[in-house]
Amino acid sequence: MPAPNHSASTDITSILKEKRFFAPPADFAARSHIKSLDDYQRLYKRSMDDPEGFWAEAARELYWFRPFTSVLDWHIPDARWFDGGQLNASFNCVDRQIEAGHGDDVAIIWEGEPIGEDGQPEVRRLTYNDLEYEVAKLANVLDDLGVNKGEVVTIYMGMVPELAIAVLACARIGAPHSVIFGGFSATAIADRVSDAKSKVVITCDGSWRRGKIVPLKDNVDEAMQLASGVVTHTIVLRRCGNPIKMMPGRDHEWEDLMSRAEPDRDPTPMEAEDLLFILYTSGTTGKPKGIMHTTGGYSVFTYLTAKYAFDLRPDEGQVYWCTADVGWVTGHSYIIYGILPNRVPSLMYEGAPNYPEPDRFWDIIARHKVTTFYTAPTAIRAFMKWGEAHPGKHDLSSLRLLGTVGEPINPEAWMWYHRVIGGGRCPVVDTFWQTETGGHMITPLPGATPTKPGSCTLPFFGIDAAIVDEQGNEKPANTGGLLAIRKPWPGMLRGIYGDRKRFIETYFSRIKGMYFPADGARRDEDGYFWIMGRVDDVINVSGHRLGTMEVESALVSHPAVAEAAVVAMPHEIKGQGIAAFVTLKGGQQPTEDLRTELVNHVGHEIGHIAKPDQIRFTDALPKTRSGKIMRRLLREIAEGHEPRGDTTTLEDFSVLARLRESEEG
Ligand code: WTA
Repeated sequence: MPAPNHSASTDITSILKEKRFFAPPADFAARSHIKSLDDYQRLYKRSMDDPEGFWAEAARELYWFRPFTSVLDWHIPDARWFDGGQLNASFNCVDRQIEAGHGDDVAIIWEGEPIGEDGQPEVRRLTYNDLEYEVAKLANVLDDLGVNKGEVVTIYMGMVPELAIAVLACARIGAPHSVIFGGFSATAIADRVSDAKSKVVITCDGSWRRGKIVPLKDNVDEAMQLASGVVTHTIVLRRCGNPIKMMPGRDHEWEDLMSRAEPDRDPTPMEAEDLLFILYTSGTTGKPKGIMHTTGGYSVFTYLTAKYAFDLRPDEGQVYWCTADVGWVTGHSYIIYGILPNRVPSLMYEGAPNYPEPDRFWDIIARHKVTTFYTAPTAIRAFMKWGEAHPGKHDLSSLRLLGTVGEPINPEAWMWYHRVIGGGRCPVVDTFWQTETGGHMITPLPGATPTKPGSCTLPFFGIDAAIVDEQGNEKPANTGGLLAIRKPWPGMLRGIYGDRKRFIETYFSRIKGMYFPADGARRDEDGYFWIMGRVDDVINVSGHRLGTMEVESALVSHPAVAEAAVVAMPHEIKGQGIAAFVTLKGGQQPTEDLRTELVNHVGHEIGHIAKPDQIRFTDALPKTRSGKIMRRLLREIAEGHEPRGDTTTLEDFSVLARLRESEEG
């Protein structure tokens, strides 16, 4: 076999051929902010020719206590946006709406998981007035506990409205928050609390998940033993009524503190570059990284991306629902910070999608007349597995826009989402972004961008995305390479908390002079981006680098397959072979015949080179708590090792044991 004459590490062979495309419906386009591809292109060009002018104008849509005097100061890797300006993120989310006369509009619609004796769940509607009242009181409580501007407050709660209140209260006093997802364990809390030197933790007695209580306060107690001496105060909201231990002087009841707090507290004017929050995210190795976002740039970027990608417009009866947890960046940016300044009600749901039955989400959409629904591909594949009968039972006609985020969406899942949930009439926005980017980077604008299933389409305004090789040279259309961002944008991370070296190494070293998100992608002849997955997931078969996502999509397009994950395995002849872990739809049997059929199906869909060398049937795949498949573990299993290393983000440990037992083919 001739040796490839190109830089092997950036040449990723793309094998996914997807030809379907969907134009924005005319009536949708007519009513939206950006009404045509021409409008998009004109504004995109302006944002590239004059980024500072573009972003200054966007920034002025928010309220500044003091105007900024400079727009951008860029010395790679350090960006400063809107210097000289002072603002407050909680003011822009809440107070500003009240000052404009909208205090009685609904800001947050919340639905609890348990179903009451009357057959109904608990629903709360918080207006901007209600929010301000609670946020200001909690801000005073934090002041009284001695939290100063710049000191990190940890929040470890379930999906209750008080979680949003806690986030906004921190923003109000300038105390950066570190929200830890309520599914994490004591060790994860201890690591994060120590890294951020966080003295105050806001938590709940427990949280509801699929009818069971997750003991949050017990986990915090254990974490405080592991990281002894760091936390001096906790604030505990009673949600589930489970028994907990309260240590006098250290642990305080939310109710007690709030009942004594004053309901007025002016928002602290923050410098644009003051830290707004830290959010810990896992890398491929090592300890979690505390991603830092600052006040001005992040506020402007999340506000504008939400406005255009979700086509948010107040006073038109829109109800927006993002199913993510506030413990992930999606919840930060697109439940709270990007949504509230757009004055469209943001729905928060406390629990699981299949409680009490697998139709819960569709029931919520019908009852609250949700217009905009934003969820993850992993959830969509679960809905497909549960079957069309569940959405079929409910009136989903209020929906006008669907969104996805978190991983590449397989074209089949996209088509199902569009047809079954969107009734064929709702545009689908496949939004590519990261914790580090703060908000959407590559995404359709629903009234303007024709969509192709599986493509996140075109870059957002101001985002200079390109497909490059290791030297940073742009690659021709339809050749896979490294995704790179060549210009700074307001929502970009400002660093990794306490680890400057890792910040530079992770994001600004692989491609000189550019931000590297660690994803491989290609751009097609129309300039559309197709994300091929993290570069470290790439498989090298006989000198051809294959994106795992494309092989997975081929497998999922077989009628017997529910979900598939593909990883590299050592192969004597090809260097690397392909191991496929496959879960089957209900009623399907894992037979030898099916195995052969699947291998041939992939061969038929994308060619001989992509045929899996091994098919392993399993009843579940190991996932992180945000639903990403843990390929590192699968790789280790495919290589025949016991999985090593950090598994704290694994959702279901028992999956590992079952995978090892899965028969090889
Ligand atoms: C992946 C979530 C393809 C990608 C907001 C990225 C996607 C990582 C998409 C960030 C998408 C996210 N299409 N891949 N629409 N959205 N990803 O930090 O690999 O949890 O780098 O942020 O998810 O994950 P994170």
